[in-house]
Amino acid sequence: MPKISVVGSMNVDIAVKTDKMPIDGETVIGNDIKINPGGKGANQAIAAARLGGEVEMFGCIGRDDYGELVRKVLKREGIYYDNVKTVSDVSTGVAVIVVTKNDNRIITIQGANAFTNIEYINTVKEKLLASDLVLLQQEIPPETIEYVIRLCSKAKIPVILNPAPAIPVKQELIDMVQYIIPNEHEAAPVFQTNESLNDIMLRYPNKLIITLGKNGAAFSDGESIVNVPAIEANPVDSTGAGDTFLGAFAKSIGDGAKIYEAIVFAQYASGLSIEKFGAQAGMPTMREINERRGLAKREKTRNSQ
Ligand code: RIB
Repeated sequence: MPKISVVGSMNVDIAVKTDKMPIDGETVIGNDIKINPGGKGANQAIAAARLGGEVEMFGCIGRDDYGELVRKVLKREGIYYDNVKTVSDVSTGVAVIVVTKNDNRIITIQGANAFTNIEYINTVKEKLLASDLVLLQQEIPPETIEYVIRLCSKAKIPVILNPAPAIPVKQELIDMVQYIIPNEHEAAPVFQTNESLNDIMLRYPNKLIITLGKNGAAFSDGESIVNVPAIEANPVDSTGAGDTFLGAFAKSIGDGAKIYEAIVFAQYASGLSIEKFGAQAGMPTMREINERRGLAKREKTRNSQ
């Protein structure tokens, strides 16, 4: 089985559910609060592992209760985490999240994730270079991301970059990765352009995929823009939907799927993931995806009769 490595953040999410997103200076009443593991790196690792992927997590946590929680979850999900480093005198990464039915807003405190630096990567380099696919996000220091992309490129290991949170990515790094997958709001700052999303995608055929929330995802096949619709879902919490897309896409590409097929699969995974509260709670298993795909197929047949 192909080994997928994730180099990235591990957080604990303090998520508050409310009917209305507060505007500047406003106080609103919340309905629920949950403290759950999260972080774009860990989320993507869990999404891929839950779908049966062989996954190793690289990154740093603090020597605290939150770090213990992250470790426990990685273990439960069958993710290899022996090379996750525990750093003293710094807290595990934390995210404060406000969730409404159709939206979420996040503030993260980097904490131990800042220690996922070049020095750390050098200590795990051999293990990392034994990967078949590497998944990166932007919640760790930018110089680490660049270093890992260069290492993998030299070793001919494909990299999938999820440029979130959005910070500009150097052209030569874009050229080195196999896929770059921002969401519709991240594309402009990442590519530093005012062009339309379609024009940006046309510049990077079969490499740039833009996720579009309830409108699905799109990419250029070299001739035109291909849209892959989102599945019908009952949204509860969209936190982690992008991460689920990334983890599922990586699993599918690792298994040998072509880009279109991998996006369709990832749409099912991310659609299912928003039906539960919490970034990781709704991430589906392969059985759940197959069930939903079967249901969609049966409905399509019924409607065409
Ligand atoms: O993408 C969602 C994730 O972003 C949350 O789990 C939070 O930890 C932040 O990193």
